[in-house]
Amino acid sequence: MVTPPKKIEVAGLQVWYGRHEVLKNLSFDVYDHEILAIIGPAQSGKTTLLKVLNRTLDSAAGATLKGTVKIDGEDIMKVRSVFDLRRKVGMVSPLPVGLPMSIFDNVAFAPQQAGLTNRTELADRVERCLRQAALWDEVKDRLRTLGSKLSGGQQQRLTIARALSHQPEILCLDEFSIAIDPVTTMRIEEVLKQLRSQMTILLVTNLVQQAKRLADRTLFLLSGDLVEIDRTDVIFSDHPAQRKTYEYVNGIFG
Ligand SMILES: Nc1ncnc2c1ncn2[C@@H]1O[C@H](COP(=O)(O)OP(=O)(O)OP(=O)(O)O)[C@@H](O)[C@H]1O
Ligand SMILES: [Mg+2]
Repeated sequence: MVTPPKKIEVAGLQVWYGRHEVLKNLSFDVYDHEILAIIGPAQSGKTTLLKVLNRTLDSAAGATLKGTVKIDGEDIMKVRSVFDLRRKVGMVSPLPVGLPMSIFDNVAFAPQQAGLTNRTELADRVERCLRQAALWDEVKDRLRTLGSKLSGGQQQRLTIARALSHQPEILCLDEFSIAIDPVTTMRIEEVLKQLRSQMTILLVTNLVQQAKRLADRTLFLLSGDLVEIDRTDVIFSDHPAQRKTYEYVNGIFG
């Protein structure tokens, strides 16, 4: 079997908040164009792991890190520009974070900052991102309305559209469906499956069924330990390598 190229290589990653070790010696790879789900109970370190990848952990008081993380073979701690890294690694937080501007401008902001000024191209980019986030049909007639006037679920999709507007190579989603109804969640899941052809997706979810539906592989974190990472069908089978994995995905604890 041919191993797909590695997009992310994590080796010996340890993270502490003060003296509390929240990620314990993690080593794993993420392949190009896969959807990797990261599952685990509350406080197992899932969000922290995503924060390492775009270096937002840098700004957390008292956080220290050991080990290496490479993206496209480059050590992310040694990159010249953290801003470029963050463009490459898009992040969607659990709750929508809107900019205080119109729907259009929320999505146009990043491309404009990056120098895209042609109005037609900009409008095309905005439309494409809103479509990708399954929001276009609901907002196409009111693009000049404030983003904050949208419902919670719509704002979350606007957040996804904004993350896509940077044209990230890696898209990290942290429990994106927390404020979204099941029908919209399913629509976004379909969107994510399609986006996989364009990017690598890391999906933190505490809905194990969402991991089962979407992910090529699944990583199980428990109290900062990487219990197991494998193909999703193996993780959800009757015989994953670790008993704890079986118990967690089958709701025996968590
Ligand atoms: N800024 C911080 N300062 C100190 N401790 C923190 C900070 N952020 C997170 N922690 C602690 O690190 C541990 C892991 O937190 P993290 O948010 O990564 O877990 P999680 O798996 O995303 O949890 P949840 O499912 O509840 O979102 C927890 O014990 C948490 O209290
Ligand atoms: Mg979290």
